[in-house]
Amino acid sequence: MILIFLGPPGSGKGTQAKRLVTEKGWPQLSTGDMLRASIKAGETLGQKAKTYMDRGELVPDDVIVGLIEERTKAKDAANGFILDGFPRTIPQAEALKKMLERKNSSVNCVLSFNVSDRDLVERLSGRRTCSKCGEVFHVKFSPAKKADVCDKCGGSLIQRDDDKAEVIQKRLSVYHQQTSPLVEYYEKAKKLVALDASASPDKVWDTIMDALKKCSVPS
Ligand code: AP5
Repeated sequence: MILIFLGPPGSGKGTQAKRLVTEKGWPQLSTGDMLRASIKAGETLGQKAKTYMDRGELVPDDVIVGLIEERTKAKDAANGFILDGFPRTIPQAEALKKMLERKNSSVNCVLSFNVSDRDLVERLSGRRTCSKCGEVFHVKFSPAKKADVCDKCGGSLIQRDDDKAEVIQKRLSVYHQQTSPLVEYYEKAKKLVALDASASPDKVWDTIMDALKKCSVPS
């Protein structure tokens, strides 16, 4: 089972992928999380990536493809995985196709998350992330019980550097220019299932469960 979560920044890919991890045990391969972990660890790769991320631009394809290639070799990815935030360009999608073909495998399904830009700005500007465990909150839609403190581990909640207003606009325009062509790419490959991701997280979850039946992925 290989599932792609395709959608603009803030469309809820991470929120829903984490629930799939919890409820189904499918590993989530988030390129954004991998890059942030590399930054936190002070690695050269992370330092290089940070310059792009802080500007709201995409990290070069070769860096990202290398990361995913390594991550998919791990034992927990042997029976499939959820790709969250990858691929984001046509060259990344082509690289993924070749990578999977070498293993006689292919993508089962691409879930395309649709949310208006206005709602995305509200979601991203109100997002708060735990600096310790990475749990995600929203000041309005899923607030922490105690302001700025993580419900799960007590860590402090921070705003991601790329969730500042000017960077959000850049990320949205990068999505429309460089990533949205993947909708047509996967539509042509008959892999795409479009989702209305503007509803509440629980409603979006139900939609995903229905969508998975259409992709003939065990749900
Ligand atoms: P990445 O970390 O992947 O960010 P993104 O795709 O921009 O996605 P986000 O994490 O911002 O949003 P999400 O869809 O996961 O939404 P979430 O569930 O958190 O990438 C960051 C950067 O890394 C990129 O800009 C780029 O530089 C680089 N990068 C990463 N991958 C790359 C690649 N493949 N190629 C090149 N560069 C790459 O939800 C958002 C908020 O909304 C939360 O607060 C949440 O609580 C709330 N929320 C979620 N669902 C709902 C709902 N249904 N209703 C109301 N609120 C909701």
